Amino acid sequence: MNIIEAKEKIFETGFLDIETDVQLDLFAAIDRLKKQKNAIVLAHYYQEPDIQDVADFIGDSLGLAQKAAETNADIIVFAGVHFMAETAKILNPSKKVLLPDLKAGCSLADSAPTQPFKKFKEQHPNHIVISYINCSAEIKALSDIICTSSNAEKIIESLPINQPIIFAPDKNLGAYLNKKTGRNMVLWNGACMVHEIFSLEKIIKLKIRHPKAKLIAHPECEEAVLNKADFIGSTSQLLKYVQTNNSSEYIVATETGILYKMQQTAPDKTLIPAPPNNSCACNDCPHMKLNTLEKLYLCMEYELPELIMDESLRIAAKKPIDKMLEISKAAGLIG
Ligand code: 13P
Ligand code: SF4
Repeated sequence: MNIIEAKEKIFETGFLDIETDVQLDLFAAIDRLKKQKNAIVLAHYYQEPDIQDVADFIGDSLGLAQKAAETNADIIVFAGVHFMAETAKILNPSKKVLLPDLKAGCSLADSAPTQPFKKFKEQHPNHIVISYINCSAEIKALSDIICTSSNAEKIIESLPINQPIIFAPDKNLGAYLNKKTGRNMVLWNGACMVHEIFSLEKIIKLKIRHPKAKLIAHPECEEAVLNKADFIGSTSQLLKYVQTNNSSEYIVATETGILYKMQQTAPDKTLIPAPPNNSCACNDCPHMKLNTLEKLYLCMEYELPELIMDESLRIAAKKPIDKMLEISKAAGLIG
């Protein structure tokens, strides 16, 4: 397939829909391409196990942004979702950033469209805008500081107590942070489809059957679930908690991809995915799970789909990300 045909395919489907040889060892092929092209594979904890196994670095959103900011690789292959690859491109204009499936979006990022957000901002003059990294480059460009779930508290606390703040786009994370920091941030009404799916009733029933199990939850979960949690944190903080805490059982209220690394790093612990409020037994993020090992291989082979960004947008979006990285560094936070 030539490049023009490949680009046409991506335009239609978001990825290179090409059949690979069934005999091909994708793990070996990806390793070969990494060396040949001086490429680094960055993966989020929500990626499928095979992708985590070939990744050079697996992390939460902060860790991935930090890694993207410091890499010497010529090509960054981002096994995650669109806003994560965008962040890597914003930090690395001269590098090629590849995303195995361009349609790997994020319901939370989609819940903050640019024009309505601009209006919202105008309705709240004198407010500083802190945006969660799960948003588009356009929203980042309209923000003063970016945060992730690993550093949000520190970022908020870096501002004077009486500073009016808009927090976007996740209302659950925002409400949790208001409670934790004693602020009264104005919240944009956005949410993540995966973290809003947990059933409080089923979690309570599960806790009765597993009285010793600790409920650990991502702060994107709804308040009712967070109120019952023994520990709340970003994916990397949840992972660390399971490794260091002395309980033997955990009910995990976040996307199921994290269970792979959790079980690897804490093999003696019992991990129970928190039940969703529908009949399907999965808490998979449909966006994260669009990436497959085969798509990862094809995007490295053809160097497509590539993340392309308008330079003025990139420069505007970089400022609040740099601010986040600076504050995180000063606070010694690593994702
Ligand atoms: P963190 O890994 O930064 O906690 O983010 C979770 C998430 O929902 C990413 O999309
Ligand atoms: Fe977005 Fe939620 Fe999926 Fe994370 S888990 S990428 S916040 S939809």
